[in-house]
Amino acid sequence: MKVSVVGAGAVGASCAEYIAMKNFATEVVLVDIKEGFAEGKAMDLMQTASLNGFDTKITGITNDYTKTAGSQVAVITSGIPRKPGMTREELIGINAGIVKEVAQNILKHSPEAILIVVSNPMDTMAYLINKVTGLPKNRVIGMGGALDSARFKYRLAEALQSPVSDVDGMVIAAHSDTGMLPLTRFATRKGVPVSTFLDEEQLKNITEATKVGGATLTKLLGTSAWYAPGAAVSVMVQSIVNDQKKLIPCSTLLEGEYSQQDICLGVPCIIGKNGVEHISLLDLNKMEKEKFQSAADAVREVNKDLKF
Ligand code: LAC
Repeated sequence: MKVSVVGAGAVGASCAEYIAMKNFATEVVLVDIKEGFAEGKAMDLMQTASLNGFDTKITGITNDYTKTAGSQVAVITSGIPRKPGMTREELIGINAGIVKEVAQNILKHSPEAILIVVSNPMDTMAYLINKVTGLPKNRVIGMGGALDSARFKYRLAEALQSPVSDVDGMVIAAHSDTGMLPLTRFATRKGVPVSTFLDEEQLKNITEATKVGGATLTKLLGTSAWYAPGAAVSVMVQSIVNDQKKLIPCSTLLEGEYSQQDICLGVPCIIGKNGVEHISLLDLNKMEKEKFQSAADAVREVNKDLKF
């Protein structure tokens, strides 16, 4: 089973590494526009195979999409990452053109591929790909919610002083500093609502820290994060390749769900061999619905800048 990862920067390479380490794919093809870069990353990663015990073959190529032919899944990480102080939305001008071209190149050689979108602004890029490719909506999946939910669980475990494996929770709506909606009301410690352990103030702090999770790391690192984004993608790819049907919050085209039309936003999705196989409808309260709506309004504003 072949998986292509376009963009061999930090996120793309981490993604290839985690996929290989989990040993479920036959081959990962890493593509980059910078001459020799993907080849170098692939060679370095392949030299970890005997150390880390995986048999997945990682191939690096410079801009030759013929080598991606027959991919079951393609991950698009191309474009520029944000710098400290930048929002994800500010990247639209440069990234839209790149993402569109990459999606078209992938589909030329892998017409059946499921596309996972990582490039920012992610919800808008997922929408763009839906529009320009005309793919059935189940085959275009935005990564944000998987990552944001992992960051939410990290913050919950930190406040609970519990192992992260005790914690469950998810983030829906937009993959943006203001549009994320960490669902504290639905979060649990082994099925027990987290509100049993944490007060309003703590939950508010967790929510705020989660929403600026990416910005906090960008400030510390000088560029955007890569380990958790790469790991989040690898979980999504495995759920598709192994048809695990995991429930993962992902950005998907909404057609009436959550009272939204013609927009990609993060919602709980069942991810299997067909991509998004089901959207779970949560019974949001009034405040959550309002927050979801204002995230949608903000993403719609950004989507207006797209040229198809
Ligand atoms: C982040 C980028 C991947 O949140 O959007 O780290």
